[in-house]
Order: sequence, then structure tokens, then C-alpha cells
Amino acid sequence: MKADPSPLPKIVVLASGSGTNLQALIDASRERNFPGEIIAVGSNRPEAFALERAAQANIDTFVIDHTKFGSREEFDAALLAELHRKNPDVIVLAGFMRILTPDFVRAFRGRMLNIHPSLLPAYTGLNTHQRVLEAGDKVHGVSIHFVTEELDGGPVIAQAEIAVNDNDTPESLAERVLQQEHTLYPIVLRWFCEGRIQLAAGGVQFDGELLPNPMRLSDN
Ligand code: GAR
Repeated sequence: MKADPSPLPKIVVLASGSGTNLQALIDASRERNFPGEIIAVGSNRPEAFALERAAQANIDTFVIDHTKFGSREEFDAALLAELHRKNPDVIVLAGFMRILTPDFVRAFRGRMLNIHPSLLPAYTGLNTHQRVLEAGDKVHGVSIHFVTEELDGGPVIAQAEIAVNDNDTPESLAERVLQQEHTLYPIVLRWFCEGRIQLAAGGVQFDGELLPNPMRLSDN
């Protein structure tokens, strides 16, 4: 008799907005042989369209509304309690627009991924597309990194680039960067679920070797 296959890693996705990245992850996770299962989608905003996308896909949802809490610590404690109930192997931040406290981040060290619309370490924080245009950069992109206590500062796993054109606007950049996000995040989540990437002392390990630079996808 064949032994039961080991259970798939359990994924919880947190999202605050439209959830196009969530959609890309849901679609990827529904492909045959995807090595993980999205068990729940959580949001800090009850009206987030991401919740609708999860419901459409019959994925369990939860809301921890940050406006109902007096402090960041109380919000994070409530979110942490909910996540402990779900007991995921990995937490995927997909447009989750809350800064998390160090205690929260430590609880999931090495098991929490974030996507950020810039080529980190450039342009941490908000309004990245606008800032890239103002600086006159010719290259822009997206980064996926392990979440550590430093905002948008954890070791970068993978990046994808786009070329910036003279006639680009923040909106046109956002659109092209998002396309790259939708390709890259499922790839990186697959690697994580397969146990190929790990947060290590000196950065990111890929197949047991420290990455000298983030993995790169390029659009040209
Ligand atoms: C994405 O561009 C993501 O990189 C960004 O928010 C957008 C969410 O879009 N995340 C951050 O800025 C995190 N600091 P989505 O809701 O359509 O996936």
C-alpha cells in the first residue's frame, strides 16, 4: 500500500486592496501539482476586493479591521491570534498595506514573503512609480523578499525588471510592473513551498546555496 502523500504546505495570503496578485496566486495554486494550498485570505479592510476574489474561489476569508483597534500592537495581536488558529506554513503579503510590529514579524521569521513594486533596496515605502519617474530612472521593477523587522528591507529573493519609457506615467508603470508581479509571485511561492528557498544568516539560500544576488526575471 502506498503511504499517504505528505500534506501540502498551508498558505495564508494577506491583502488590503484589489488583489490582482492574490488572483495570480489562486490561479497558480489551482494548477496541477502546485506544491501548496491557500487555506485562507485575510484583510485589514472589510471592503477589499481581494476578499471577493477569495470567496469566488471558495477560499476561507477573515477580516481584522485595523480601524477597530486603538494601537498597532493591538491590531497585530489580533491578527497574530487569527493566524495562529489557521497555523499556516507561510504567510504571503500581497498588497497588504499595514506596517507590522517587530513582534509580529519575529513570530513568522523566515515564513513570511512580501512583494514590493520597486527594485529594492531602491524606493522602499509608497509611491514607487512616481518616484522612479521623478528620478529619471530607465529601469524599474518588482521585488519579492523575506519580511524582517526592517520595512521593505528583508533579504530579496527575486526581482523582475521593466524598461521605463519616456512617455510612461505612474499608471502605465504600475500596469507593467503588476504584470511582472503576477508572473513572479507564483514562481517564488512555488520555490518556497518546495523548500528551495530559505532565509539564512547571510541572506537568502536557494537550493542550499547563499544567493549572491536576487534571482532575476527580465522582460527583454
Ligand atoms: C502591488 O503593486 C504590490 O506590489 C503593492 O501593492 C500592489 C497591490 O496590488 N504592494 C506594496 O506597495 C507593499 N508595500 P494588488 O492588490 O492588485 O495585488
